[in-house]
This record gives sequence, C-alpha cells and structure tokens, in this order.
Amino acid sequence: MAEPPAVRQTIVQLLSHMRDGKEIREYLHRFSRLDQARFAVVKVGGAIIRDDLEALAAALAFLQTVGLAPVVVHGGGPQIDEALAAAGVETEKRDGLRVTPPEALAVVRKTLTEANLALVEAIRAAGGTAAAIPQGVFEAVLKEEARYGRVGEPSGVRLEMVAAAARGGETPILACLGETAAGVLVNVNADAAVRALVHALQPYKVVFLTETGGLLDADGDVISTVNLATDYESLMRSDWVSGGMRLKLEEIKRLLDDLPLSSSVSITRPEELARELFTHAGAGTLVRMGERIIQSSDKAELDIARLDALVTEAFGRRPVKGYWDALALDRAIVTENYRAAAIVTRLDGAAYLDKFAVLDAARGEGLARAVWRKLVGYAPRLYWRSRVENPVNAFYWEECDGAAKDEEWIVFWRGEDDLSRIPEMTKRILALPPTLEAR
Ligand code: ARG
Repeated sequence: MAEPPAVRQTIVQLLSHMRDGKEIREYLHRFSRLDQARFAVVKVGGAIIRDDLEALAAALAFLQTVGLAPVVVHGGGPQIDEALAAAGVETEKRDGLRVTPPEALAVVRKTLTEANLALVEAIRAAGGTAAAIPQGVFEAVLKEEARYGRVGEPSGVRLEMVAAAARGGETPILACLGETAAGVLVNVNADAAVRALVHALQPYKVVFLTETGGLLDADGDVISTVNLATDYESLMRSDWVSGGMRLKLEEIKRLLDDLPLSSSVSITRPEELARELFTHAGAGTLVRMGERIIQSSDKAELDIARLDALVTEAFGRRPVKGYWDALALDRAIVTENYRAAAIVTRLDGAAYLDKFAVLDAARGEGLARAVWRKLVGYAPRLYWRSRVENPVNAFYWEECDGAAKDEEWIVFWRGEDDLSRIPEMTKRILALPPTLEAR
C-alpha cells in the first residue's frame, strides 16, 4: 500500500535527520516490546486540532504504520470559547476550571465531539485508522455544582472502549467528557483526565503536543531535558519561569510521581513527534524523574568504592574491614549516581537487606522510595535489622509486617508467608556480627 503523502513526508523528514537507522530501530524495538496500551498517552491541546490538524493526523498515522498505538486525549478550549461566544452563553473560569452550567455543557459536548470527529477523520485521511471515543471513558464525581456547574473530578476510567479500539488496530481518540455514577454528563478538566488515564495505564511515555513544542528557557529556546530530581526546585524558584510553566511543571511532576522511574514526559509539536520519540536527542522537552536505578547480582558490575562512600556517608560510619570482600551479594539496587542503595544477601533462603543507604542530599527526591519499591518488588519476602535509634525506623515501621526488638536492634520482616520461620530468623539476625565500625 502506498503511504499517503503526509505520512511519507513524516518518514522522510525523520530519516533525513539520521545517519543510520540504528536509533530509530532501537526505539522502535523498545516501544514495540511494551503492551501497547502502556506505550503512550498523548495529550493534544484544542488549539492543535484547530490549527495544526494535518500534521497531528500525519504524526499519529505514522505511529500506526510502525505498529504503535498511543491513547490520545484531546481538549478543545479555543473551540469551546468560540462556540460559547457564538451561542451567547457566558462562562468564566474559576480555579482554572471552566464553570459549566447545563446550557454550556450542551455546547461543550457538541464542540468536543466535533473536534474528536475532526481528528478521527483527519487520521483516516492520512491513511490511519482511529476510533472516536468522545465519552464513556472517564468516571467522575460532580464537583461543587453551585460553584462550578457540571464539572466532574475523574474518579476512574473505563478502559473497555480503549481496549476494543486497540484490538482493532485503531488509535483511540478520547475527549474530556465524564459521567457520574448517576449517568450525568460532566465537563472534565483535560489535565485531570490525563492524570486519571495515566494513573490507570501507567504508560512508558506521556506526550504533550503543544504549539510551542516544549518548555522554554529564559531566552525562549526549547529546553531539551529536565531532570526533576535535580532541576525541579531550582526551576520552580527561577524568576524567568512563568506562572504557566510552573503549573505545567507541577502537573508533570504529579504525573511522574505516579509512574515508574523509567517513564518520561515529552512535550513537542506534532511535526516533531517522530523525531522526539525515535532519536536520542529528540525534538522538544523530555522530562524525567531523574536518576535511573541499577540492579546487579555481580559485585564486579558495581563500583564498590562508590558504594563504600555512600554507606559511609549515609550511616556516618564506615563498613568493617573486609566487609565488601566477604559480602555474599544476592542483589544490589543502586541509583545510577550511587546516592541510594539497597544491598541484599540471603539468609536461610530468605532475602536479607544488609544495607539500605541513602545520602542526606538525596532525601526527599523520591529516590529512597524508588529503591525501596524495586527492593520489595525483587524480594517480596524480606528481613532486615536496624539500630533502635535509627531515624529511618519510622519508615521501616510503616513498611514492615512485623518486628522484634532487643536493646540494640529491631528486626523487621515483611511478606513472610510462614510465620513459624520468624523466631529462628530473628535469632539469627540478632546474632549477626556488626557490619559497620563503631563510632
Ligand atoms: N526518544 C527518546 C524518548 O522519547 C528520547 C527523547 C529525548 N528528547 C529530548 N527532548 N531530549 O524517550
């Protein structure tokens, strides 16, 4: 089948940016391996549908030709403004939400449905197939009606139609209309809708297609990457960061906080989507949480000197002489910059957390939790001990299923399916020699 011109142009444009196809193949491989419902959620602003529909449709059709099926959510702000004005219905924004009395909701529904169909048709014209799903996905609870009118807060998503579209090889196109449990149609804020969808799907990528094509720096140039772990606070403090960008950053952080560390957010223009997705350098702004996490069962793969420095700094004491040589490592879970680490050994077949070290400077970045999440994912049945005065114990108490103490130590466990093992394990753990030098 010959590609329609718009799609072909996208491919040509994409390839012309590459010396060889290695990058594109790598990304294609990475994205294709994912369950396609988890590949990407793409949010499209209403202005794009109005002003840049052809490029948008071409970009989405292109993804389809390479076998990728993102879930698309669109708004329709500018169109709704226009339609309301034409209908002589006055509305205002309150707390960033469009106050939507019933007579406005009729206009909102009609306008969003039209925008939805326009996009679906344009994708078809570009040689793709798409499913129009203007409503029926977002479950919502009516917010304070006296204040906002028919505006709902998403409370869940029904994925049947999305899954059916995906099974049929169609790109699902969703609009931000919700329904309450009582079946009342409500207007849903687009960011809130994306949040609910992202929460349910846990996608690898969240893509915002905007007209500016990224976050802009003080000179108005697109910022290529933002690592929230390292950049968020300083960006939020910078005076050149506009109010709109601050809100955007907050929203993105909220999304990434809810996603695995491997997920990322890209902001780009439809024309650049393929380049953003299929090249390392990208075209737009890539936002990640920050540090990646390394897992290894092989000491030779780890930088022992850096681990030693991390443990020493985190505990204020160095490991006992010969600790690393004697360590029978089962698994180390370490952030890429060696700022947080979990070191797991085996004790009578159970996983034993021998060290959980987090740099002070890395606290509050979500790194410790990220490592912890990996840890309990890797070792659902886990034991560890901690000195009674360790300030981290509050966290451990939250995380454990049970604990036993003596004067010096608390032994914690979680996920133990055979409770009869606990006394013996506790005894063994309390008897372990110290692993850190005395102060
Ligand atoms: N293609 C990769 C991705 O989508 C990397 C994109 C890099 N983008 C950037 N603006 N720096 O995950």
